[in-house]
Amino acid sequence: MEKYEKLEKVGEGTYGKVYKAKDKSTGQLVALKKTRLEMDEEGIPPTALREISLLQMLSQTLYIVRLLCVEHTDKNGKPLLYLVFEYLDTDLKKYIDTYRKGANPHPMPPSVIQSFLYQLCKGVAYCHSHSVLHRDLKPQNLLVDKEKGILKIADLGLGRAFTVPLKSYTHEIVTLWYRAPEVLLGSTHYSTGVDMWSVGCIFAEMARRQALFPGDSELQQLLHIFRLLGTPTEEQWPGVSALRDWHEYPHWKPQNLARVVPSLEPEGVDLLSKMLQYAPADRISAKEALDHPYFDSLDKSQF
Ligand SMILES: Nc1ncnc2c1ncn2[C@@H]1O[C@H](COP(=O)(O)OP(=O)(O)O)[C@@H](O)[C@H]1O
Ligand SMILES: [Mg+2]
Repeated sequence: MEKYEKLEKVGEGTYGKVYKAKDKSTGQLVALKKTRLEMDEEGIPPTALREISLLQMLSQTLYIVRLLCVEHTDKNGKPLLYLVFEYLDTDLKKYIDTYRKGANPHPMPPSVIQSFLYQLCKGVAYCHSHSVLHRDLKPQNLLVDKEKGILKIADLGLGRAFTVPLKSYTHEIVTLWYRAPEVLLGSTHYSTGVDMWSVGCIFAEMARRQALFPGDSELQQLLHIFRLLGTPTEEQWPGVSALRDWHEYPHWKPQNLARVVPSLEPEGVDLLSKMLQYAPADRISAKEALDHPYFDSLDKSQF
């Protein structure tokens, strides 16, 4: 690790701290992410190695943060793996905050929302075409290069090799705000639709500059969703009442989605409504989303 000069802490996530650092020989800025590895007598578990190779393969696309290399060291005899990523200025949560807070709060420019959503759908479509679910898409896991107007997916795919905790190592509660209703209702056979639900929540959050469904427990999270989109029925979502955690809920009627994203043009509201379909099979896929009329006015030649 002497190759790197640690500069500052840029994030504190589920597994540990993330540092901004400089590669001393090239001057390149990188992000160093420590991973907690459960090593067995045989060394690095093969599941972790497979996961890292997958991550390295996926990160070849522009829409996923590039994994540059993996450094293997140890600390007081304990083996440690550092993932070395390309460095980006900020994440989407901090970026949205700059429009919400400060002396001059104002909406995110519609063209930026459109471009960021397009890049997000590109990245998600790429993952899904390789049968990889992200499962934790949220603004904190999307990195942004402000100057270049680039958005990339981060924090990908370590879900299986490194155990997924309910709380982070700092005991920060893992956010439920972007979690799909089928996951909240205890479905175990979920698929690509879970990521598209999260994409919808992120889309709405860029337009609103605040979260769409800010629940603080699994029940509250469901109630937030039901109050806006209506309590799901067997008719619109066959099988919903057979899901493990389904109960009887108040029967809310769907509200007008446009009212919660007043700054969004009608095509945007239409795309959002297709991402927030209850039945996972009815939800728009990332690949289909790329062809939605909302993106007609976007100059796609730049991607
Ligand atoms: N490549 C990077 N460049 C700049 N900041 C980063 C980078 N990777 C992560 N971060 C920052 O660190 C935070 C935590 O990183 P993340 O990969 O999401 O780890 P965790 O699994 O701990 O959530 C991110 O929300 C982001 O603010
Ligand atoms: Mg994260």
